Amino acid sequence: MVIGMALRCPIVSVLGHVDHGKTSLLDRIRKTRVTKREAGGITQHIGASEIPTDTIKRISKDLLGMLKADLTIPGILVIDTPGHEAFTSLRKRGGALADIAILVVDINEGFKPQTVEAVNILKQNRTPFIVAANKLDLIPGWNSVEGPFVLNFNEKKQHPNALTEFEIKLYENVIKPLNELGFEADLFTRVKDITKTVSIVPVSAVTGEGIPDLLVMLAGLAQKFLEQNLKLDVEGPAKGTVLEVKEERGLGKTIDAIIYDGVAKQGHYLVVGNPTGVVVSRIKALLKPKPLDEMRDPRDKFKPVKEVAAASGLKISAPDLDTVIAGSPLRIVPKNKIEEAKKEIMEEIEETAIPTDDEGIIIKADTMGSLEALANELRKKNVQIKKAEVGDVSKKDIIEASSYGQSNPLNGVVIAFNTKILPDAKTEMEKSDVKVFEGNIIYKLVEDYEVWSKEMEELMK
Ligand code: GTP
Ligand code: MG
Ligand code: NA
Repeated sequence: MVIGMALRCPIVSVLGHVDHGKTSLLDRIRKTRVTKREAGGITQHIGASEIPTDTIKRISKDLLGMLKADLTIPGILVIDTPGHEAFTSLRKRGGALADIAILVVDINEGFKPQTVEAVNILKQNRTPFIVAANKLDLIPGWNSVEGPFVLNFNEKKQHPNALTEFEIKLYENVIKPLNELGFEADLFTRVKDITKTVSIVPVSAVTGEGIPDLLVMLAGLAQKFLEQNLKLDVEGPAKGTVLEVKEERGLGKTIDAIIYDGVAKQGHYLVVGNPTGVVVSRIKALLKPKPLDEMRDPRDKFKPVKEVAAASGLKISAPDLDTVIAGSPLRIVPKNKIEEAKKEIMEEIEETAIPTDDEGIIIKADTMGSLEALANELRKKNVQIKKAEVGDVSKKDIIEASSYGQSNPLNGVVIAFNTKILPDAKTEMEKSDVKVFEGNIIYKLVEDYEVWSKEMEELMK
């Protein structure tokens, strides 16, 4: 390998319907407890964590013989996505980032609207995927134990009725719907060519059954993907996307990002979008999360590094990041590439702007993705949006909402998802009759708004 070039780590996105067990499966692999701390028990942001090849080898040791090649990938970067219907744009972004994917399906519930949506995203991006048929432990009579599924799937370990039940659910709930969407699919042990047939791996995030099988199939697919893609050696400027903007002690505002292409170097320039344009800032420090830590909810401190090759999670410390918003595209470039990068970023931002109406309410959210999700949910209920912005609720927002409410009281509203209401905004709220809805569960905010607006409509009659 040429010095200065690194083998790119494949990106694996985890997609599927709400509560089918995406985060739980990752928790099981990482030995983390991210699921437990999520508001409302649902994922509302994109997450990222690195799984080193050593971990894959350790968990799957008994099964590595199933792979016909040595594992040469440096590891995988897994992207966790939300399954709740509101987050189509985050799923699309997660899906678009992916080299390969895991589609998580509850084997008892089968395909649901967001499962179909996820398959269509994968189809559109031509992303190879495997299926994790989760919640195997809930099949009536199934004796689910930690370890390889292949060792647990036989008449000695399972009652005949449980085996029958399993086969029925596998076919009816997973294989058949995949066939209907145009994919050949089968239980992974019965698949001859993983590039032609989608492999289904039965798992349980609760007992740990099938996790070794899942990782070995994933590694197999990643390896195949590597062989077919000559461009996997990475060099050149880093391209990425902002996951979160965070205040860190001693560093000030920092950016948590996913780098999906190229190499990020300390001392280079960060070019990143903000609501009014593009920010350029010289990088002070690059910090990498520990392997197996979920970036959104890390157990350990991030480690300073001189450079980072894609794909990777990355914390960036640089001046002037106050106006940067989550969901923005970013580049990390040498000085002579700044102008080119600015142009690219402007183009990407224009593609993702949220459309607004002439009249309507104000919505605020913590990230571009959640703002889009909130906007989409409100649009479904025919709610008009006058202003949609990432950031805290300011005094200006309250004054504006108050003026929108003059002609129509239903528009004197601010809906704030996962953001703060600044102190002077609170003072302003006391003086005005602006109604503010705040919370950290999108669909609850929308429900609360609906209930309130119905009551208001009654009163106004
Ligand atoms: P979203 O990110 O909100 O779309 O959900 P998710 O797909 O990440 O699902 P999550 O991991 O939050 O799990 C949803 C619920 O299912 C939790 O209560 C889990 O404990 C439970 N669960 C997940 N996997 C299994 C499993 O294998 N067996 C059983 N019995 N329960 C499971
Ligand atoms: Mg989740
Ligand atoms: Na969930």
